[in-house]
Amino acid sequence: MKIGVLTGGGDCPGLNAVIRAVVKTAINDYDMSVTGFKDGFEGVILNNYINLDRDSVSGILSLGGTILGTSNQADPFNFPIKQADGYTYLDRSSELMTNFERLGLDALIVIGGDGTMAAAGGLGELGLNIIGVPKTIDNDLYGTDQTFGFDSAVVTATDAVDKIHTTAQSHHRVMIIEVMGRYAGWLGLASGVAGGADIILVPEIPYNLEVVCEKVKERNRQGKNFSIVVIGEGATAEGGDMVVSRMIDTSPDAVRLGGISNQLAAQIEGLTELETRVTILGHLVRGGSPTPFDRLLGTHFGCEAIHLAARKEFGRLVVLKNNKFDSIPLEETAGKTRKVPLDSPLLSAAKSLGISLGVSDEKLKQMAEEANTKAAANEPAAEEVGA
Ligand code: F6P
Repeated sequence: MKIGVLTGGGDCPGLNAVIRAVVKTAINDYDMSVTGFKDGFEGVILNNYINLDRDSVSGILSLGGTILGTSNQADPFNFPIKQADGYTYLDRSSELMTNFERLGLDALIVIGGDGTMAAAGGLGELGLNIIGVPKTIDNDLYGTDQTFGFDSAVVTATDAVDKIHTTAQSHHRVMIIEVMGRYAGWLGLASGVAGGADIILVPEIPYNLEVVCEKVKERNRQGKNFSIVVIGEGATAEGGDMVVSRMIDTSPDAVRLGGISNQLAAQIEGLTELETRVTILGHLVRGGSPTPFDRLLGTHFGCEAIHLAARKEFGRLVVLKNNKFDSIPLEETAGKTRKVPLDSPLLSAAKSLGISLGVSDEKLKQMAEEANTKAAANEPAAEEVGA
């Protein structure tokens, strides 16, 4: 068999571990050949590809980023074309299909997040033999218990929280650390708990400013004259809106979040009269070498993707479910975002540790009950709702 592979969407640590596992398993177990497309789907559309052999993947396991390059703006169904006054979008999926056939490839493995999987599902419907591998630091891809890249991002963000702690303590300041994660709070929650934050604010739980400030003041009354707040970029105040940092003109309707921490800092400072500073970690959490966990997860995912291809099980996403590797139809993940459920054990642990989630206990209980009522009525749960 001849296999194509590409990496799409935002990069993250572990992409090279997957590429390496795909290439080695294809060659060692099945004597397949592998073509690597550059910069996501763009490489298939623009015929930009390389042959991947054992030598090409030698020494890449611990490397961050992706040797193939990536793009989160090369949707084959909405491909951006630059015009004098902005961008227009073309459906170039048929060119992609033609190029793929011309190369005599039997299957395409796409390593990416929800945008990549949505396009993969569409290409599968057009008849392309496609297999998805779930990637993202956001950990928000529906259908898998974990995406690779998340663990590495948690390690980097936790290290930042640790470092901010010492300076917060020295200067008696409120320090806010904003982390990526889009519409899901996994990264903020995990790094906040691991880093011993005092307040964690996630998009799934709109925060009440007074509750946040009361926690800061309570700590001061207890003689703890600093506070650490970890906030997800998609978090909002009750009744407030997400803060958009930029519009993306090469993707229709796409925005990038960021900056909520600046608003929050001004409000905390105003209400508590305590000096409050902001650190926005941004793309830092997407960089660097993958953790051993992500190397292992990425390796398993890459091997599984090739085993699926060998069995001709196409149109599927490789997943980790209850500690087992499995696969689900691509359409099951499409249009959904895996958010932090309100009955998450980690949220409950955070509360037991005295970490404020920015709302009163009564409010959180009420929100959880509403979520249960929806579940009983078979309405989509929070973690299934599209962003
Ligand atoms: O999906 C991964 C992610 O890093 C999000 O957490 C973040 O909102 C977004 O990508 C940033 O995208 P870009 O690299 O285009 O700024």
